[in-house]
Amino acid sequence: MADSTHLIPPHGGTLVDRFVRGEAREHARERARDLPRVTLSERSLADLECLATGIYSPLSGFVSEADYTSIVRDMRLADGTVWSIPITLQVREEAAAHLRVGSELALAGPSGEVLAVMELTDLYRPDQIEEVRRVYRTDDPKHPGVAAVMEAGNVYLGGPISVIAELPKGEFDHYKWTPAETRAAFAERGWETVVAFQTRNPIHRAHEYITKTALESVDGLFINPLVGTTKSDDVPASVRMQCYEVLIDKYYNKEKVFLGVYPAAMRYGGPREAILHAISRQNYGCTHLIVGRDHAGVGDYYGTYDAQRIFDELPEGGLEITPMKFEHAFFCKRTQQMATPKTTSSSPEERVHLSGTKVRALLASGQLPPPEFSRPEVAEILVRAYRAQAEAQSARDLREQPA
Ligand code: ADX
Repeated sequence: MADSTHLIPPHGGTLVDRFVRGEAREHARERARDLPRVTLSERSLADLECLATGIYSPLSGFVSEADYTSIVRDMRLADGTVWSIPITLQVREEAAAHLRVGSELALAGPSGEVLAVMELTDLYRPDQIEEVRRVYRTDDPKHPGVAAVMEAGNVYLGGPISVIAELPKGEFDHYKWTPAETRAAFAERGWETVVAFQTRNPIHRAHEYITKTALESVDGLFINPLVGTTKSDDVPASVRMQCYEVLIDKYYNKEKVFLGVYPAAMRYGGPREAILHAISRQNYGCTHLIVGRDHAGVGDYYGTYDAQRIFDELPEGGLEITPMKFEHAFFCKRTQQMATPKTTSSSPEERVHLSGTKVRALLASGQLPPPEFSRPEVAEILVRAYRAQAEAQSARDLREQPA
C-alpha cells in the first residue's frame, strides 16, 4: 500500500475502523445470537457502513443523546468537533420495549442476518420537531429529509457499533472504496490535492464544467456519486453509473479521475448536508469539495448559495477540507461555451438552463435534451432508461387491470 500519511488528516484526527476480524469475529457472532435484535432500514444500514468504514470518522456509532443535542443545537459533537446532521438509529416504541441501556444488542440487515453489535449507551426520545427545524430549517412533512426523520420512529438508540459479518453486497461493489482504500489510491497516484464531487444526478454539462474547472487547480478529481436512498423521481443510481462511466471514458482524462460511490442516503438537507458531505470527503482523503448552486437542496427550502455560506460560519480550523464554490453554471450562447455569471455578461435568454422537471418531461417523451445541456451519450442512456421504465410500468398496469 502506498504511504498515505502525508494526506489531509481524517476529521477529528483518526480514521475509524469498526470491523471485527478473525477469531474475535467468531466469538462476537456466537455472543450475538442471544442478544435482542433490531432490524435496520436501508438508510440505517447505509449509515452503519459509513460508520464502520470510517466515512463518518470520528463517529464510532450512532450518536449519544449528548452528541445529538449538541449537533442539533450547535452543529458540534459534545466535545466541540464540527458535526452537522445527527447519525441516529431510530426505532418505534414496540421495537424498543425489550432493550436495556448498558446491554448489547444485535443489528440485523433487511433480510434478517445479524451484521453488527451495538453497546446501547443511550436510549432517548428527543423533540423531533426541534431537530428538523434546526437541521433542515423546516418542519414541512413534504420535505423528503424531514419525512424520513418523522417516519423512522421516535425512540433513538445510541452507542458504538462493531460489524461482525460481511455487509450485504450491493450493485456497485466494484466502485466501493473505504477511506483507507481511497487514501492509498490517491497516494499511489501521487495526488496530494484531490477535489471531491458529490452528486445525485447524471453528470450534465454544468457538472462537467465545474468538475473540470476545479480539477485545473488540484492533482485529482474524485467523482463520488451518492448511491444510498434518493427520492423516487431522482435518476436511479444504476442508470447514473452508466452515465459516469461513459463520460469519464470519453470526455475526461481517465488518469486524473477516480470514481467511487458514496453509500449514504440523500437527506436533502442543503447547508447542513453540505457540511456532512465535506466531512465524509475529508475522510476519504480529499482536500476540496465542490459546492455549487443549491448543493443537496430540494424544492425551494434553501437559498441558492446557503450551502456555500454555512462554511463561512464554521470556527477557524473546524474542517480541514476546503469548499470550492461555484456559481450557477450554464451554456452561454453568446460566448459559445460553458460559463457562470462570473465569466459572462450574457442575458438570461442567452443561457441554456433546463430545470429538472423540464428534463424529465423531455426524457419521458423520448426527446434528447440539447447537447448544450447534456452530452449525447448521457442523454441516450437516460432516454433508454425512461423508455424501459415506462414499458415496465405499462406491463404492470396491464397485469393489474381487472379481467
Ligand atoms: S446534489 O444534491 O448532490 O447537490 P447535484 O447532483 O445536482 O445535486 O449537484 C452536484 C453538485 O453540483 C453540487 O455541488 C451542486 O451544487 C452542483 N451543481 C449542480 N448543478 C449546478 C449548476 N448548474 N451550476 C453550478 N453548480 C451546480
